[in-house]
Amino acid sequence: MQKRSAIEGNTETNSSVMSKQRQYLWPSHLLYYEEPLPLDHGLGSYVWDISGNRYLDFFGGILTTSVGHGHPEIVRKTSAQIAKLIHSSTLYPHVNHVRLAEKIASITPGRLQKSYFTNSGTEANELALMAARSYTGNFDIMALRHGYSGNSAATKTLTAHSAWRLESNIVPGIKHAINPYCYRCPYKMHYPSCDVACAQDVEDAIKTTTCGKIAGMLVEPIQGVGGFITPPPAYFGIVAEIVRNYGGVVIADEVQTGFGRTGNTWFGIEQWGVEPEIMTMAKGMANGFPMGNTITIPEVADSLIGQGNFICTFGGNPVSTMAALATLEILEKDAPPSAIAAKGARLRAGLEKIAETSAIIGEVRGMGLMQGLEIVTDRKTKEPAPETVRQIFEKTREKGLLIGKGGMYNNVIRITPPLTTTEEEVDTAVALLQEVFSAFN
Ligand SMILES: Cc1ncc(COP(=O)(O)O)c(C=O)c1O
Repeated sequence: MQKRSAIEGNTETNSSVMSKQRQYLWPSHLLYYEEPLPLDHGLGSYVWDISGNRYLDFFGGILTTSVGHGHPEIVRKTSAQIAKLIHSSTLYPHVNHVRLAEKIASITPGRLQKSYFTNSGTEANELALMAARSYTGNFDIMALRHGYSGNSAATKTLTAHSAWRLESNIVPGIKHAINPYCYRCPYKMHYPSCDVACAQDVEDAIKTTTCGKIAGMLVEPIQGVGGFITPPPAYFGIVAEIVRNYGGVVIADEVQTGFGRTGNTWFGIEQWGVEPEIMTMAKGMANGFPMGNTITIPEVADSLIGQGNFICTFGGNPVSTMAALATLEILEKDAPPSAIAAKGARLRAGLEKIAETSAIIGEVRGMGLMQGLEIVTDRKTKEPAPETVRQIFEKTREKGLLIGKGGMYNNVIRITPPLTTTEEEVDTAVALLQEVFSAFN
């Protein structure tokens, strides 16, 4: 870990920041690490804390810094835009706004064409529910267990992790089917002999928990917070057919899986050969500038005509849209989906090598630069090991590596570097993880 003698202009210490955090911020802020880590600045795949310690950021600000920290093109273009015009609101058309919508329509699958930009994944999913209900005239929305969809009442209800829900905030009209969690299959079956039995549960859930017609189903192509749960290839094709048979539309939540993250395709749902009627995106779209988007096929967006006005004060603002345009340009040039697949394969091979000698790794899963390790006490019982994950976190931090975690049992390590990460950085991260895992053998 490299240390710089002083961080310019900083008069705070870890403990002074934490004391203000405790005094002035809601205690419900979830913080990583026993001694939380106030960050000061970043460059490329690295960040520095306020004491000057350097870390290789292999969580990428929760899959958000797609092209790395402090990218000179993002800095240059957004700085120029800030000097020119920061805000205009959606009451006035803006060139960045329409250009970004055009660009996203050109890389999303099928007939997805009309965008509504907001500020977060939560808002994007809220709009998706509204659009699905408006278009179909139906109310019930299906979702998957172990999913995570955001922080508002409706998206907390879509979320199917007790730890992330809030009783007082549950809204009607959202039902959950069994998710394709092969490692812990509730039917104790194995793919492919299971015949993807879990997909049929979507139909059972529609028949038993709704009035038999639905507005749609919101799904993450790979469940993110759920612990990178990756479905069998046939799963989403079967689910999409069921959803449409019951009058609904498919809503792909690409907040984590979008913009090439899963490798080879721009969006995760394309891995499964499904063309959704609605897609939501946020996180990595603008490299850290607040931004969400709900893109739909034309007739879904048009169904909202005459159904009441809505504005989004900060949505599609000139600076965030400039950041998103710059991010996409950099990705196309330096980290297109094919390059992400290659770096992802290198990361995956490194993790599988570690798993060969580490009995606490129950499964390595994910796609592209979205790789997870499910940590267990032993491979036979598959007993989740959240305490071991806590220790792995402290040890990787000591070695200067930042990673993420998730899963229903808090026992899945999530590894998601910036999409522009280099092969050398991937190898460095794998070597550091190898050292840490060796200590647990
Ligand atoms: C799949 C998914 N959808 C939606 C959200 C909510 O996004 P935001 O935190 O930007 O509101 C998240 C956040 O982690 C997410 O992972």
